[in-house]
Amino acid sequence: MNRRDFIAAGGLLAATSLLSATPAWARGRRLRMGVIGTGMRGQVHLTELLRRDDVDVVALCDIEPIMLRQAQAMVAKAGKPEPKLYGADGDVNAWKRLLETRGLDGVIIATPWEWHAPMAIGAMQAKVAVGCEVVAGITLQDHWDVLETQLRTGTPYMLLENVCYRRDVMAALQMVRAGLFGELIHLQGGYQHDLRGVKFNDGNPAHPYDSGVEFGPKGWSEARWRTEHSVERNGDLYPSHGIGPCAMYTGINRGNRFTRINAFATKARGLHDYTVEKSGGTTHPSTKVTFKLGDVVTTTLACANGETILLQHDTSLPRPYSLGFRVQGTKGLWMDLNHGVHIEGRSPPHEWEDFKAYQDQYEHPLWKQYAGDAAGAGHGGMDWFVMHAFVEALKAQAPMPIDIFDAVTWSAITPLSEQSIAQGFQTLDFPDFTRGQWQQRKPIFAFDARY
Ligand SMILES: NC(=O)c1ccc[n+]([C@@H]2O[C@H](COP(=O)([O-])OP(=O)(O)OC[C@H]3O[C@@H](n4cnc5c(N)ncnc54)[C@H](O)[C@@H]3O)[C@@H](O)[C@H]2O)c1
Repeated sequence: MNRRDFIAAGGLLAATSLLSATPAWARGRRLRMGVIGTGMRGQVHLTELLRRDDVDVVALCDIEPIMLRQAQAMVAKAGKPEPKLYGADGDVNAWKRLLETRGLDGVIIATPWEWHAPMAIGAMQAKVAVGCEVVAGITLQDHWDVLETQLRTGTPYMLLENVCYRRDVMAALQMVRAGLFGELIHLQGGYQHDLRGVKFNDGNPAHPYDSGVEFGPKGWSEARWRTEHSVERNGDLYPSHGIGPCAMYTGINRGNRFTRINAFATKARGLHDYTVEKSGGTTHPSTKVTFKLGDVVTTTLACANGETILLQHDTSLPRPYSLGFRVQGTKGLWMDLNHGVHIEGRSPPHEWEDFKAYQDQYEHPLWKQYAGDAAGAGHGGMDWFVMHAFVEALKAQAPMPIDIFDAVTWSAITPLSEQSIAQGFQTLDFPDFTRGQWQQRKPIFAFDARY
């Protein structure tokens, strides 16, 4: 290479690195997005992305060709340009090539839990903004690694915790702010969802639910990977749906923080009994498996400002779905299970009132503005809100509504609850991921934002 070529090459290199050093999300324009994991959940997110006219879905990645083809067909049906496809060859690292897509602004990560931390870290290192499905990582160290990468790279990261956008949850937040409950004292929430028919199926993509007792390589969708966590782990495996709203109500990482945690687990019966009943005997290999996950895991958190929060993970027994929220203060309480509220001086003494009138009166401004747009979207509309928040924050180059500190704090409850249970239900210190900043940090959560 002569000197002129060398300088020209250097110039090109400089121009290229200038381009990559200023990712499109930092230039604020129409977004070029990718989706990693186009399974059941990834397709819900894809639906929301395809409905938008400020987003181009330019790349899709999944190692399961059926899921990838379904996602590809969705894009075609929406009349949008063909995205680049990755992973059809089954390469579990195909997502790394997706991240090299020119001008990629952001990715949605909707893969099995064990992939969230490495994929998010890889994306942030590549300056590709991350919208990550719950959870942030598996081990406590994963959570520190995801945090450190975000802080070092400055790449936006949002945990896509949709329950924070539930209509009644947001109305209850308005009530907290209006002081209806007085000073907050105790909160409850959880993930109470009979997943037996999700953790097992017959492995046929046509019937992902309630169709059999296979799991692992013979299962389909979540049965393929989620059930293994019930075999190997004992803790609150899915804390963010419950803790997200409770953390927002109590201002965690924003003037408050978790200080202590412990968890108790019951014996494990539900998953075994299900495989026996569903297969009609004890000969199927799934009936021989020992499940480590206690049927009901109860986690307690203490907060610096004196509140306690109780979470329950309950996914292996017959029960109707309920997240079991309770927000209780010096003047009253709301519970979602009975749609009930009681406010001293307003409600008849010792009686519940129906939440509906409060819901209407304290409707959150976001729901007032966007209920029509969210109509028909997954989980009663909240899936529209969570994607809207991520996209709008990215375009506005604004702080992420559910940011890295929220993500790791909520998600770290899993490894900490596992540790507590493993150590005989011991109470542990809760790490301060903000390293003291929680005392000065101001609220920036979506509930305060325009989206
Ligand atoms: N927030 C919610 O309400 C909600 C609801 C359902 C699922 N989720 C979360 O979404 C995530 C995905 O769950 P799901 O129900 O879609 O599961 P799923 O099994 O249907 O989809 C996961 C997809 O990831 C793909 N995958 C696995 N490894 C991969 C890799 N290395 N590279 C690319 N793709 C890979 C799988 O082939 C599969 O298609 C999980 O974290 C789950 O907890 C959240």
